[in-house]
Amino acid sequence: MRTDDGFDGIADAVREHGWQVVPAFLSPAAVSALAADCRARDAAGELAAAATGRAQGRALSELRGDRTRWFDETALSPAQRLYWDAMQALRQALNRRLLLGLETLEAHYALYPPGTGYARHRDRFRDSDARVLSSVLYLNRDWRPDDGGALRLHLPDGPHDVAPLGGTLALFLSADVEHEVLPATRERMSIAGWFRRREAA
Ligand code: OGA
Ligand code: MN
Repeated sequence: MRTDDGFDGIADAVREHGWQVVPAFLSPAAVSALAADCRARDAAGELAAAATGRAQGRALSELRGDRTRWFDETALSPAQRLYWDAMQALRQALNRRLLLGLETLEAHYALYPPGTGYARHRDRFRDSDARVLSSVLYLNRDWRPDDGGALRLHLPDGPHDVAPLGGTLALFLSADVEHEVLPATRERMSIAGWFRRREAA
């Protein structure tokens, strides 16, 4: 795990730019434990085709091709615990420096089969402003540029592609940054996480 100094740098970048990419956020050992956990759950049928939206607006999606599984905070596997603890440390560091009021974390595994992606979107639901900061931690070993599968951030000065290499953590403001997942030639695994504030009543 990175030191608090590293976390302060992340907070400054988020404040200045609204996004940041952190290489090697978790150790290679933690990343492979998470990848193995994700793959085992998928083999056991625990991952399900993703939907978009909430409640009545919820629909199986043509926009995205991934299978997902939400983390249960009360029943984290040892691998998930490594992720959860690092993200809580990051949340506290961000709150100390940014006053974003990040209170909770929600997260799910995502597995994109080859050839699938996620069309351009923002991460806030139409009916909720609870999601403040989006994160994606990648779980893929030895990702090469010609494997595709970039996270494309649509920034004011143009698109910025992030390779989904194991250990990389992408962070961006949920309300502001449009983004998409480009199709890959191989299976692409990640953990999507959102830091949330209390919803306005
Ligand atoms: C999402 C998302 C990006 C990625 O799950 O909302 O945009 O790189 N994921 O997996
Ligand atoms: Mn998204």
